[in-house]
Amino acid sequence: MKVNLTSSSRLSQVDFSNLPFGKTFSDHMLVAYYKGGAWQEPEIMPYGPLPHTPAMHALHYGQAVFEGMKAYNDVSGEKVWLFRPEENYHRLNKSAERLCIPSVPKEVFFEGLKKLIEIDRAWIPRAEGHSLYIRPFLFASSEYIMATPADEYCFVILTSPTASYYSGSVKLKVETHFTRAAKGGTGAAKAAGNYAASFYPMSLAREEGYMQLLWTDGKDHKFLEEVGTMNLFFRKGDQLFTPPTSDSILSGITRKSVLELLPKIGIEAKVEPIHIQDFQAGLEDGSITEVFGVGTAAVVSPVDTVGIEGKNYKVEVKEDGHWKKLKTALTDIQFGRSEDEFGWRFPLI
Ligand code: COI
Repeated sequence: MKVNLTSSSRLSQVDFSNLPFGKTFSDHMLVAYYKGGAWQEPEIMPYGPLPHTPAMHALHYGQAVFEGMKAYNDVSGEKVWLFRPEENYHRLNKSAERLCIPSVPKEVFFEGLKKLIEIDRAWIPRAEGHSLYIRPFLFASSEYIMATPADEYCFVILTSPTASYYSGSVKLKVETHFTRAAKGGTGAAKAAGNYAASFYPMSLAREEGYMQLLWTDGKDHKFLEEVGTMNLFFRKGDQLFTPPTSDSILSGITRKSVLELLPKIGIEAKVEPIHIQDFQAGLEDGSITEVFGVGTAAVVSPVDTVGIEGKNYKVEVKEDGHWKKLKTALTDIQFGRSEDEFGWRFPLI
């Protein structure tokens, strides 16, 4: 791997007490190109613009996928951890396969990550709940506008110090007109285009005062799917419920971890299809007492309002709710404050 270090770090210019999600990038990035049927030697270089042409294939046809991960400073300050990075690696290549993109070799991904984070270790924030968000992504870089798969690709890893994605609780609108993902489509892949297609419906919802959409199935808009930035959970009685993943729902690594963690903290969870009418009835009669989303960026984010067909339902965000117990248990593992009995923490440094 080639390493080309910056001659002037930007670290001292960063206000670590004000880190909105995705706006600040660390000094370096990893870049690797796929050309002539093979991955070329990766390079760590100063963060900055890449030399691509306006005829770059990904700009025209959206052949691009990404991942979201985080690096955590241990409470002792001595170690840096990742959380289940193998899962991200596999999902990246699964997404790539769906978008007809060649897979990234394991050593490029893991050795690149390790070296990049060793170099930019000082960018990992230390404040409570903060972390270094890692954005690996892969896109078609050919200078080629035939609507067929490209023959050159670029793999990049950016890192970005960040606070939480949501700074309070979330207002969700259940979307029953637009569709995020159809059966047989790309919904289960972390494809850039899935997010692009959500922005217009989301901007309409924002005009109505909501922050995010809770998507329903693309066929009848009857079953709840996911939020785009998070997978959905809600509480009824003492139990939590979440929809099963499918080819139109992203299989969240935080969702999977939550489902494995819940029995350990004495909370029962049911994975089952959730009909919008049952969800609405539970909000209406107050039997649904918590709604929250889980994701890498969002961690565990409580929802205080759910809008369904023009009607808003308030949900109390209780500080001693299941969402909070879960968030504490999960982040205690991620930040090295508790035993890691599942072996989820990956020692990077
Ligand atoms: C993540 O949680 O890493 C995501 O990919 C959500 C993102 C769109 C902010």
